[in-house]
Amino acid sequence: MADEPGQPPALTTLSLADKAHESQAVNQIVTPFDVSGGVDESGKLLPVDYNKLVREFGATPISKELLERFEKVTGHRPHRFMRRGIVFSHRELNKILDRHEKGQPFYLYTGRGPSSDSMHVGHTVPFEFTKWLQDVFDVPLVIMLTDDEKFMHSQKIEIDDVKRFTKANAKDIMAVGFDPKKTFIFSDFDYIGGAFYENMCRMAKRITINQVKGTFGFNDSNNVGEFHFCATQSASAFATSFPHIFGEDKKKAAAVPCLIPCAIDQDPYFRQCREHAEKMKFKKPSLIHAIFLPALQGPGSKMSASVDSSAVFMNDTPNRIKNKINKFAFSGGQDTAELQRQLGGNTKNDVPFQYLTFFLEDDEELEQIRTAYEKGEMMTGEIKQRCIAELQKYVEGFQERRAQITDEFIAEAMRARPLEWRGNPNPIVE
Ligand code: TYM
Ligand code: TRP
Repeated sequence: MADEPGQPPALTTLSLADKAHESQAVNQIVTPFDVSGGVDESGKLLPVDYNKLVREFGATPISKELLERFEKVTGHRPHRFMRRGIVFSHRELNKILDRHEKGQPFYLYTGRGPSSDSMHVGHTVPFEFTKWLQDVFDVPLVIMLTDDEKFMHSQKIEIDDVKRFTKANAKDIMAVGFDPKKTFIFSDFDYIGGAFYENMCRMAKRITINQVKGTFGFNDSNNVGEFHFCATQSASAFATSFPHIFGEDKKKAAAVPCLIPCAIDQDPYFRQCREHAEKMKFKKPSLIHAIFLPALQGPGSKMSASVDSSAVFMNDTPNRIKNKINKFAFSGGQDTAELQRQLGGNTKNDVPFQYLTFFLEDDEELEQIRTAYEKGEMMTGEIKQRCIAELQKYVEGFQERRAQITDEFIAEAMRARPLEWRGNPNPIVE
């Protein structure tokens, strides 16, 4: 269990002074459309204060006890993201564990707003984690591609662009390794209608303009599509939106809740969804939140596909990855080798170290790197090398799987069809 979100496990316990300190920022902003840790008095960018965010959002930090229960109930050691506080907060995860314990059905729901031809490494974080959850729980998964959202929110993106992004992103996402028998991935433009649209309208009817302004920071200049989309993302959290998976019996399907893995920026949609779900006679979705993979420029922001120099893309060549890390990755090291040996590096804002925390599987090696870097035994160039090697390996493995994904495979994964799980085809659909 990490002491602070985004920090590796305390194999050698962090000193008390290192523990989460209150950020001085008054202007931290986190919405699905904007992420910034704010600035201090001197205008310096501050890291996102996740503890403060969790308090403000009213979510619950993932405790050591919850991780122990997770391990007991599932028989799996928690994923490295959970061990390291990368997956750091939740809403009613315990309810999902109760259901798993009793063999009651639930499903997983996650998504992506296709805004670029290739996803970046940050986007793969919730998807990697979702794939692991799918393997652990053996449940159906729906993946929503919000092409409508990205069209509505961008001045530049036309419908043809977003359709191209959707197809390319669907391949990227399936290359993470989801089991196609248990996974339905869909485009809003293609799928919305029927039972899904009914649920969207049920939701839209309950959300007032005032609520949207308060929750998402919109004002009178946002277009009506942006307002209406706030109801769209919620509709996938109700099993009755997918009769081909959960059956035509609405009463039965309405009793099946979902667990939504996402980064914390998506929480506003689901806070709103949870507020109204029971009034609509649906189950509230549970959530499990990840922190952001920081931009190359440092921990005050999230890696973003729209800022090319902030991101390592899943279609970058090994050489590009090397150049980007060497050129752009913010370093917590000292200016000279001599000072580095004397004072050591700061792992808390060192981007190469942060990336290793996300992607290096071996806890002990990570801890060795941290100690060596902080003591000044490891140089900035060396930690960058280690980070480059790990990212190249991660991206190369992905590209090999991506190359195997055909148009036919994607067409099938995106077709509304029954899914199969827990060894039985459709235990819910009779
Ligand atoms: P999108 O495409 O902005 O992001 C997809 C997922 O990736 C997370 N994410 C990140 N995680 C770690 N580090 C980063 N730098 C980073 N940037 C983005 C996002 O939180 C998200 O989990 N509206 C959504 C699509 C959507 C969705 C959902 C997402 C529809 N339904 C349900 C999650 C769950 C979107 O545009 O995501
Ligand atoms: N709204 C998200 C974005 O713009 C995309 C999204 C839709 C999503 N459903 C989701 C992300 C569920 C995470 C989980 O970033």
